[in-house]
Amino acid sequence: MRVLVTGGAGFIGSHLSESLLRAGHSLSIIDNLDEVYSLDEKQANLGAVCSLGGVRVSKIDIRTFEPLLDEFRAFKPEAVIHLAAMAGVRGSIGQAILYERTNVAGTLHVLEACRLSGVERMVFASSSSVYGASQRIPFREDDRELHPLSPYAATKLAAELLCETYAHLYDFGVVCLRLFSVFGPRQRPDLAIRLFTERIERGEPIQVFGNGESARDYTYVDDAIQAMCAALELNARFEIINVGSSRPLSLMTVIRTIEEVTQKRIGIIHIPPNPADPEVTRACIAKAQALLHYQPAVAFEDGVARFYGWLKGQRTFQ
Ligand SMILES: NC(=O)c1ccc[n+]([C@@H]2O[C@H](COP(=O)([O-])OP(=O)(O)OC[C@H]3O[C@@H](n4cnc5c(N)ncnc54)[C@H](O)[C@@H]3O)[C@@H](O)[C@H]2O)c1
Repeated sequence: MRVLVTGGAGFIGSHLSESLLRAGHSLSIIDNLDEVYSLDEKQANLGAVCSLGGVRVSKIDIRTFEPLLDEFRAFKPEAVIHLAAMAGVRGSIGQAILYERTNVAGTLHVLEACRLSGVERMVFASSSSVYGASQRIPFREDDRELHPLSPYAATKLAAELLCETYAHLYDFGVVCLRLFSVFGPRQRPDLAIRLFTERIERGEPIQVFGNGESARDYTYVDDAIQAMCAALELNARFEIINVGSSRPLSLMTVIRTIEEVTQKRIGIIHIPPNPADPEVTRACIAKAQALLHYQPAVAFEDGVARFYGWLKGQRTFQ
């Protein structure tokens, strides 16, 4: 199949692209190579992808419609996996306009390009953050009482609604995957596991919001990719599907696991809770199991060990 991936130079997008190429798909990657984090890392990610062959890479910003549409018309994708986004919860505070332009207007551009170039299906990388302060735990896809706590979460929810409208009006299917705290090699530097591990290696203390009892449902990147590839095959008009492990771990458990894997002790500084952070995230994964035959396979400790192995191999790692 001809698959177009937006955000293919990033953490999840590069793993996904490798997996699609290995499965025999031909690929077009669109990414603006923004410098929210190191360009060297994104280029290394792309290097790994491009070494497999069968891929074209275009430096395009999804906030600008015409070049995006040109690439859709040139490549003629049958399917699109849309990951390009401003992706940080905390980074979105104070940058709401940039997040809206990228995550809402940018997603609308991708949907328009799908419509105008005859794409058959799209998978959208949404986020567990759309549930926010929802009180129905585990989080279920049919919960309509959502309470997004950050501009990032609100933009992902708005983008889901646009996906639903396009799937309703036009002749293509959309699957929105609500990803829960994805981690593994190439993880973004702003995310907890990487942030903590880099600090522990430098002998610096970490800042923990609140008492460390807030909990997250972590998903190893290979498991998330498995769900994305299955979603690509799903014959559906519109679906929202959680992708997590359904086993929330407290921040303190995460810290203890990192200590075990690195064999080092972490100094902790407690700071007040952040209002953008939900207290707990936990996915109900029954729908993913039923529709995608999804089964998380990598235990948290193993995932952290694989991540640490990757981090130690990085040139820039000190
Ligand atoms: N990592 C997680 O835990 C997680 C959880 C839930 C949802 N998601 C979603 O998954 C997707 C990928 O996340 P990631 O962690 O790999 O982030 P990432 O930042 O590593 O990847 C995003 C990519 O999008 C590109 N991009 C950003 N703005 C763009 C623009 N205007 N035009 C074109 N490209 C642009 C970036 O250059 C980057 O390569 C995002 O949509 C994110 O919101 C991630």
